[in-house]
Amino acid sequence: MVPNDVADFNLADEGRRRLLWADADMPVLAQIRERFTKEKPLAGVRMAACLHVTAETANLMRTLTAGGAEVRLCASNPLSTQDDVAAALVKHFDLPVFAIHGEDNETYYKHINQTIEHEPVLTMDDGCDLVTSITKDRPDLADRMRAGMEETTTGVIRLKAMHADGALKYPVIAVNDADTKHLFDNRYGTGQSTVDGIIRATDMLIAGKKVVVAGYGWCGRGFANRIRGMGALVAVTEIDPVRALEAAMDGFYVMSMKQATEWGDLFCTLTGNTSVIRREHFELMKDNVVVCNSGHFNVELDLDDLEEMAVEKRSGVREHVDQFILADGRRINVLAEGRLINLTAAEGHPASVMDMSFAVQALTSEYVMKNDISLGVHPVPDQIDDTVSRLKLKALGISLEELTPKQKKYLASWQEGT
Ligand code: NAD
Ligand code: ADE
Repeated sequence: MVPNDVADFNLADEGRRRLLWADADMPVLAQIRERFTKEKPLAGVRMAACLHVTAETANLMRTLTAGGAEVRLCASNPLSTQDDVAAALVKHFDLPVFAIHGEDNETYYKHINQTIEHEPVLTMDDGCDLVTSITKDRPDLADRMRAGMEETTTGVIRLKAMHADGALKYPVIAVNDADTKHLFDNRYGTGQSTVDGIIRATDMLIAGKKVVVAGYGWCGRGFANRIRGMGALVAVTEIDPVRALEAAMDGFYVMSMKQATEWGDLFCTLTGNTSVIRREHFELMKDNVVVCNSGHFNVELDLDDLEEMAVEKRSGVREHVDQFILADGRRINVLAEGRLINLTAAEGHPASVMDMSFAVQALTSEYVMKNDISLGVHPVPDQIDDTVSRLKLKALGISLEELTPKQKKYLASWQEGT
């Protein structure tokens, strides 16, 4: 068997069933896989991937392998690993996986190191933990690395900070910033799966709830709109004046977190920032509120503050729910230990949207092997967005208009006025 550290091989058949079910909703990736099988653009390329180990990620791994890559996979979040999928990848697809749902911090980094030991020339990150680990622990590898790909907003922000600091040692492509990624994955994927995670964790009725959404970026817009669609009253908090205005004109209440804390029943952070909800907010919250995060890592809720304030912590009052009791008896329910609620309590984004994100990842892997990229954080070439959007439209049976010669000429001219 290939090198691995997974929870339970008895789950492998169920994992295979689930990843094949997801595959049926990933037609763009399937087409790329078919071409990769013939052309082998990644023949012999050693890759390390640090991604959420889900059914959708499994189909990306199958695509890279079909292209000839030798990939090792570890988790980008200790709570998002789907153990059945991890087992299936090892047992049925001979792909080395190092990921166990609920692993502690030490095991999480041990698993990252097991993918790095493979001496990759390409990395694929969701949050930049591979790049930072390689930079800190294996600078010799960083010098030989061809390129990296980054899946998410927070990772791109960290990489840009690394580059500004002179710490980035090899080129990275910001996959998150491709239009066919963040316009759909962050907005519709996070929007729907965050609602799904909250409902699975709590079984709460959304209609009539007062919901506070921190951050009105791609993810925040998606979540705010989806939860409003289920009948919630929604307030947005923002630090960016333009986005705050946009939220107001989209018909949401916009207020400071301090105002919102006295109003809300359910709070969800989607900012990529730290300590967005902290002591001064927990102090004002109503009894029995629900607080969660769908932004990044576990830093958006300041749970150290809450631990200090609480006179009692009731762990696991329900799966994925810890209840903190304050001195005056108020209960604050925290979901998923403050980690991504959509990937912890639900299954992450649906396959149909990951189809595009992972098609971009696969095509970008091919691109960086065929082109020399300079040190820095680079956008995905427009050509890849064009290819992925056209393939997705075709798969959805949606036709595009074509410019007529007269229209082309008109758009290229300036002489004609009113
Ligand atoms: P974005 O940059 O488009 O939006 C973030 C927004 O948060 C911005 O408008 C910013 O002004 C606002 N913000 C920052 N600090 C704030 C604060 N203290 N209070 C209120 N608003 C604040 O980013 P995005 O693409 O929406 O991503 C947001 C986060 O979600 C990132 O961490 C990203 O990595 C993560 N993400 C999660 C998933 C998931 O599966 N849960 C998927 C994609 C992205
Ligand atoms: N990020 C959000 N949803 C995901 C999914 N289903 N698989 C992998 N990464 C994800």
